[in-house]
Amino acid sequence: MFRIVTKKVLNPQVQLMAVEAPAVAKKAKPGQFIILRVNDEGERIPLTIAGFDRAAGTVTIIFQVVGKTTRALSELEEGDGILDFVGPLGVPSHLDGIRKACVIGGGLGTAIAWPQAKALHDQGAEVHMVCGFRNQDLIILEDEIKAASDRAIVTTDDGSNGVKGFVTDQLKALLAEGNQYDVVIAIGPLIMMKFVSEVTRPLGIKTIVSLNPVMIDGTGMCGGCRVTVGGKTKFACVDGPDFDGHQVDFDEAMRRSSMYRDEEKRSDELHRCRVGLGGNPNA
Ligand SMILES: Cc1cc2nc3c(=O)[nH]c(=O)nc-3n(C[C@H](O)[C@H](O)[C@H](O)COP(=O)(O)OP(=O)(O)OC[C@H]3O[C@@H](n4cnc5c(N)ncnc54)[C@H](O)[C@@H]3O)c2cc1C
Ligand code: FES
Repeated sequence: MFRIVTKKVLNPQVQLMAVEAPAVAKKAKPGQFIILRVNDEGERIPLTIAGFDRAAGTVTIIFQVVGKTTRALSELEEGDGILDFVGPLGVPSHLDGIRKACVIGGGLGTAIAWPQAKALHDQGAEVHMVCGFRNQDLIILEDEIKAASDRAIVTTDDGSNGVKGFVTDQLKALLAEGNQYDVVIAIGPLIMMKFVSEVTRPLGIKTIVSLNPVMIDGTGMCGGCRVTVGGKTKFACVDGPDFDGHQVDFDEAMRRSSMYRDEEKRSDELHRCRVGLGGNPNA
């Protein structure tokens, strides 16, 4: 069992957990992920390594409650154990030589972008961060974003906090000011990453996105996480999850991401029903 040593609620849907996993902490690098299974009846789900403490032997995960497994995970408390916690998996982000970067997080994607911004900041790069949320209740990691960047901009779609509007508007404004970035890193909903890539494409600015397709084994065997990049088939678990945003077939990725929606909804309803949250087992 992998013991949960810290649990924090970041907003009503998002939690942070530090988990005792010394072997993973020893090798983890920004951009990588773990696959966990909450209990022996559970599914395996991938979560990004949001942080690690090699001395304490802990790995931090930040997750949004979206379905059955993330709900079951959110019901665990400090001191409880997670059955499987495998990693680090995936290719670490290539951050060497970057002197100036704009790191963009969309919603929960902010938690996945934050370790990359932090690593860049720690290596002396100038980091601008733009993080967008639907409204102020969903804002996470505000202090951490500021600490990891030389310039931090928070946007909300409804203007309830920070600047009103989308992250792409702020990226355009930063570029119009004359900022020259070695790289733009965008992590969030597929549609956001697609539009960020369209802003940077005509300017020839290298753009890295992080793809989160459904993963099963995480070892390149099952083909579940197949994506098309530069016209070639890639597996996000072993070739990514970071890819060149200008080469990704986002439309195909969006079609594939909704393939299992009905089955996932049914599975969550059943779990909610079993734990007394009022789900409909016949849904
Ligand atoms: C490399 C990678 C890193 C990720 N990092 C994070 C993270 O740091 N924090 C976070 O909250 N989420 C992250 N995710 C998404 C997370 O894995 C899903 O939210 C989780 O699997 C949902 O499971 P569920 O049973 O709660 O929900 P379900 O109801 O089963 O699914 C809800 C949605 O989650 C996605 N999903 C479901 N099963 C999987 C799966 N096996 N693999 C990938 N996606 C799935 C699908 O888009 C689905 O529509 C990451 C995904 C990938 C591939
Ligand atoms: S998760 Fe099976 S090939 Fe990537």
